[in-house]
Amino acid sequence: MKGVSGLALVVSASLAQALSTVSLTAAETTVTASALFSYEKLQLTESALVDVAQTLQNETIASMFAFANATNSSSTMSKRSVSHSCKPMPGDLLWPSELIWDVFDILIGGSLIKTKPLAAYCYPDWPEYDATKCATITADWLSSDLHMDDPTSIMLPLYEGRTCLPSPYNYTSTCKQGAYPIYAVNISTVAQVQLAVNFARNLNLRFVVKNTGHDFNGKAAGKGALAIWTHYLKDKEYLSNYEAANGYVGPAIKFGSGVQVWEAYEFANSLGHSVVGGEAVTVGLGGGYTAGGGHSPLSSMYGMAADQVLSMQVVLADGRFITASSTENSEVFWMLRGGGGSTIGVVTSLVVKALPKLETTSVTFNFTVSDTPGPDAFWAAVSSYLDNFEDFVDAGTYGYYYIGADSAEIGTAYAGDTDYYFRMESFIAPNMSLAETKALVAPWFDTLDSLNITYTPWYNNADNFYDVWVNAFPQEYVGTDVVKTASRLLPRSVFQSDTLRNKTWAAYKDAVDQGLFLAGFHVSGTGIAVDPPKDNSVLPAWRDTMTHVIVGSEWNFTSSWDVIKESSLFVTEWMDVLREIAPDSGAYMSEADLLEPNLQEAFYGTNYPRLYALKQKYDPTGLFFALTAVGAEDWEVQTTDPLPYSWNNNGRLCPVSS
Ligand SMILES: Cc1cc2nc3c(=O)[nH]c(=O)nc-3n(C[C@H](O)[C@H](O)[C@H](O)COP(=O)(O)OP(=O)(O)OC[C@H]3O[C@@H](n4cnc5c(N)ncnc54)[C@H](O)[C@@H]3O)c2cc1C
Ligand SMILES: *[C@@H]1O[C@H](CO)[C@@H](O)[C@H](O)[C@H]1NC(C)=O
Ligand SMILES: *[C@@H]1O[C@H](CO)[C@@H](O)[C@H](O)[C@H]1NC(C)=O
Ligand SMILES: *[C@@H]1O[C@H](CO)[C@@H](O)[C@H](O)[C@H]1NC(C)=O
Ligand SMILES: *[C@@H]1O[C@H](CO)[C@@H](O)[C@H](O)[C@H]1NC(C)=O
Ligand SMILES: *[C@@H]1O[C@H](CO)[C@@H](O)[C@H](O)[C@H]1NC(C)=O
Ligand SMILES: *[C@@H]1O[C@H](CO)[C@@H](O)[C@H](O)[C@H]1NC(C)=O
Ligand SMILES: *[C@@H]1O[C@H](CO)[C@@H](O)[C@H](O)[C@H]1NC(C)=O
Ligand SMILES: *[C@@H]1O[C@H](CO)[C@@H](O)[C@H](O)[C@H]1NC(C)=O
Ligand SMILES: *[C@@H]1O[C@H](CO)[C@@H](O)[C@H](O)[C@H]1NC(C)=O
Ligand SMILES: *[C@@H]1O[C@H](CO)[C@@H](O)[C@H](O)[C@H]1NC(C)=O
Repeated sequence: MKGVSGLALVVSASLAQALSTVSLTAAETTVTASALFSYEKLQLTESALVDVAQTLQNETIASMFAFANATNSSSTMSKRSVSHSCKPMPGDLLWPSELIWDVFDILIGGSLIKTKPLAAYCYPDWPEYDATKCATITADWLSSDLHMDDPTSIMLPLYEGRTCLPSPYNYTSTCKQGAYPIYAVNISTVAQVQLAVNFARNLNLRFVVKNTGHDFNGKAAGKGALAIWTHYLKDKEYLSNYEAANGYVGPAIKFGSGVQVWEAYEFANSLGHSVVGGEAVTVGLGGGYTAGGGHSPLSSMYGMAADQVLSMQVVLADGRFITASSTENSEVFWMLRGGGGSTIGVVTSLVVKALPKLETTSVTFNFTVSDTPGPDAFWAAVSSYLDNFEDFVDAGTYGYYYIGADSAEIGTAYAGDTDYYFRMESFIAPNMSLAETKALVAPWFDTLDSLNITYTPWYNNADNFYDVWVNAFPQEYVGTDVVKTASRLLPRSVFQSDTLRNKTWAAYKDAVDQGLFLAGFHVSGTGIAVDPPKDNSVLPAWRDTMTHVIVGSEWNFTSSWDVIKESSLFVTEWMDVLREIAPDSGAYMSEADLLEPNLQEAFYGTNYPRLYALKQKYDPTGLFFALTAVGAEDWEVQTTDPLPYSWNNNGRLCPVSS
């Protein structure tokens, strides 16, 4: 092949050394933020690119790493201004050769990983086959730790195409790459993010940002993609008197975007503070969670995670590294606080408010129908919870509840099963003593008592949020492909109307009777302690929410795609009843339905036109893509499973044909 020998020379050892020196030390700071993490000081600059070009002696290859320059052509603002070809996949003419990947790997300091599906260990036809490792990953398959520590694994393999699962979770007896990206960059510097962004954009590669892989709709997967894996951006710094661009002066914490909820809580607590983070232990704090809004056990007190952000460091789609705050790059700042992950840039760190250390109390309990005099008493107990939502939310509390049949941990086996269960995973009362919490729940518990329901509340109290949270929220299990969920945010007006509240209650009962399960939260996106900021893109419906309710259908590991399709459509359609009860509300994008009707309106509300316009402005070539993300409607995943296009990530990504 022509040019190959020249290239081989280029990637010879000595030049490799020269290149890695160029790329990883030449960067001088181009961002004038107060305090960058050390990994943010290693940046790609124009002058570093000149050095790269001189070393490579090949303009074609050097140009693959160039920044995009702003063009003011009117086309950048129009719908789908993209080059509009499908993204290449391995085997295609336009897929980079091994040598190009080698050059890229050298430039990023050897951090390129040629990925394999995690369960390849279990398949003898893969070189990775290793029975011992297979046994380990099989044992850990339902633990989020396993998937978050892998460069491409995701928590919900349904959206990857369930192509490589360990027995007994497997649908086939084969292991294929599916929608797990082909390569992943193990990010440890901003320069690596910039190089990957430029490389993917210039070569029109499918590009994926993977943080933890928790996304409900597998937004961190993509067939034929180059992924960047932000998991190790773990730096944390306390800023005791931060002066934010929006006027806030006070304690703050700067987190790397790979920091996870438990790490953030632990760090804040060690400083005598708390921060807004998810209920779940391992969700990423600074990735998709905050970008999508982010609800928290502290939300009814302090609002959404996106409301806490004071500034962000971001690599934009053009490869440039910027600071975003209410005065600098304020459009970007607006969009990345509510508009979702995978839109216009990669967040590398964020500064959030450090909140007071709060005395906190939690209550955990459960009962099944056999702990009640019968189904009527069971459902009356559920009704009495709904009657109390407003009081609970207005006291600044948060409750995570499950309702179903079959008394399993989660889930309802079959329609008609009346083995009902109610589980209060945790009711959490920040800034409340044990006595205050008992007083708050007393009206509800009095009703449960009068219904002769047997339950044993388990209380936790501490002088800080962390010690209670750590006991109240055990790690949740993930890793299966047997659930499809849809969700709705139900506003205060629903619970103020006897008719609508009763309709909601009847809908809950109907869902369970039809074989679905409910996982809900009593929560508001407006905290009682602060006013929400007006300058972010959190779905407006969140501000008036009393409950975010997720409804799910289930099947088996071995169910056919037909069963999955039918079950998925069923839960999407069932949700019409809650859509009708709250037609002007919406659904929380990060825990929602891939098949949501009028998805843009439901997930983004009135913010959508502006979000879409900013997407065209900052990412005119469509570098960032994730199913359901802003602008995703311009693309389709040509799903290879027997499913409609864009039902999962296992297919080539192409502009929508029409
Ligand atoms: C068990 C479980 C519990 C959950 N609990 C909560 C909860 O309590 N509250 C809540 O609000 N949500 C919760 N979620 C939903 C959660 O907010 C979403 O799954 C969210 O997308 C996770 O973000 P991540 O970065 O950890 O995950 P990923 O799946 O890695 O990323 C999600 C999306 O964000 C993008 N992204 C990630 N990092 C970056 C970055 N640095 N820059 C730009 N884009 C990025 C990805 O490309 C992807 O599109 C939970 C989910 C699960 C599975
Ligand atoms: C530059 O590299 C390309 C391979 O991408 C090759 O086709 C071309 O011949 C090279 N040019 C020179 C001048 O070596
Ligand atoms: C962008 O502009 C810089 C000069 O500011 C130039 O060096 C670079 O080659 C340009 N990149 C592209 C892709 O045109
Ligand atoms: C684009 O237009 C703006 C004004 O609308 C101008 O400030 C900027 O310099 C222009 N950029 C380029 C690359 O022409
Ligand atoms: C799952 O994998 C095991 C072991 O590889 C295999 O024996 C079994 O047939 C597979 N299950 C299905 C449904 O293909
Ligand atoms: C990724 O990089 C981190 C350091 O930032 C290292 O600890 C880890 O082992 C690397 N993982 C892989 C799979 O390369
Ligand atoms: C509860 O039990 C008491 C005593 O056993 C009984 O008198 C009462 O009728 C029961 N109430 C309900 C609602 O079942
Ligand atoms: C239900 O509550 C009982 C105590 O009343 C407790 O032992 C059990 O672990 C709880 N189960 C769940 C699933 O929370
Ligand atoms: C609530 O709805 C149920 C069934 O839909 C009905 O039987 C009951 O009378 C209603 N109660 C009120 C108070 O409206
Ligand atoms: C916590 O409660 C006390 C009263 O008990 C109140 O003065 C204080 O403002 C509350 N803190 C917050 C953050 O709401
Ligand atoms: C799978 O689900 C069906 C109902 O859809 C049920 O009849 C069957 O017993 C389940 N199979 C297994 C192995 O659980």
